[in-house]
Amino acid sequence: MSSKKPYNCNISALGHYVPEKVIDNKYFENYLDTTDEWITERTGIKERRYLEKDQPTSYAATKAVEELLKNRNMSPDEIELIVLTTVTPDMIYPSTACIIQNNIGAKNCWGFDLIAACSGFIFALYTGAQFIKSGTHKKVIVCGADKMSLIADPDDRNNIVLFGDGAAAFLLEPGEDENYGIIDAVARIDGSGGRNLCQLAGGSLHPASHETVDKKMHFIYQDGRTVFKDAVKGMADVSLEIMKRNNLKSEDVAYLVPHQANHRIIAAIAGRMGVSMDKVMMNIHKYGNTTTASIPLCIYEYWADGKLKKDDNIILSSFGAGYTYGSIYVKWTL
Ligand code: UT7
Repeated sequence: MSSKKPYNCNISALGHYVPEKVIDNKYFENYLDTTDEWITERTGIKERRYLEKDQPTSYAATKAVEELLKNRNMSPDEIELIVLTTVTPDMIYPSTACIIQNNIGAKNCWGFDLIAACSGFIFALYTGAQFIKSGTHKKVIVCGADKMSLIADPDDRNNIVLFGDGAAAFLLEPGEDENYGIIDAVARIDGSGGRNLCQLAGGSLHPASHETVDKKMHFIYQDGRTVFKDAVKGMADVSLEIMKRNNLKSEDVAYLVPHQANHRIIAAIAGRMGVSMDKVMMNIHKYGNTTTASIPLCIYEYWADGKLKKDDNIILSSFGAGYTYGSIYVKWTL
């Protein structure tokens, strides 16, 4: 971001949605060669939530945005832009942003979907903030929503235990004080890591066919061990870069908000940053990896529980398919 800041960008309201259906680790013990102990120890996940069959990603996203509007006491007509990020859109097109716009009846906005997998929310927040900082928009909604239960192979113990469904949304508005809000961002892509974490079929490279279905190419593929290693390095690098750039020492950080993929990845990053685990936001035990919803869902919960306070310095950090990775420094205002 430029050091010249015509407007600053505050996070001024939050909303979230987690499905009612809870799937605990025992559920998988019933039909897979796995145990609650393995999943808990290797990932930190105890349970996750699943949307029902007739509830697409837009269902969760709409609920999150509706809660946000209620919390801000705001009419949908005031929204100017919806940036929706997901890897499980309702359809390839129209965009899920259009579906949400129609669901909530927002008559004066535009919007689009952004794909950056588990870094989706960081990239969407960085993008949304530009529209506020440039002065062209006054009310921007950034929403992360995913129905991961749909693209994880239920028979693949390497993946199915990791993921869950959920959504969360932030409202961005201009603020008076440039020392608050979204202060800085670092974002990176590295396509050389693309083959390690991907959904091979369904696009123009491998369009849906009997063969792609038979070969399970519509499910998540990942080389877990490689992604684990690369995620620790990538997230720690961008988080340390943003701290250095903003003269933040580990004791200045109120919370590290890491993407919730694996508690061992999170602990390794916190260690490299010198941030103690009591300053790390975590809800992976309840929801697993919800991809684009993971970071905003975590922030929502800490804020709703009164654990996040005005003036707190928080460092958001993510790593995902692409590879995509990034970090955002926020000085909290709510
Ligand atoms: O959000 C996007 C980014 N994604 C991530 O950050 C995920 C990164 N990777 C990880 O979190 C971890 O690598 C996993 C959780 C996916 C796997 O944990 P791991 O400790 O790296 O296990 P591993 O892949 O080294 O596998 C160890 C063993 C293997 O058995 P063998 O080959 O040694 O006989 C796996 O087959 O654990 C086995 N295993 C399981 N065992 C019981 C894999 N999944 C399970 C399971 N239950 N659910």
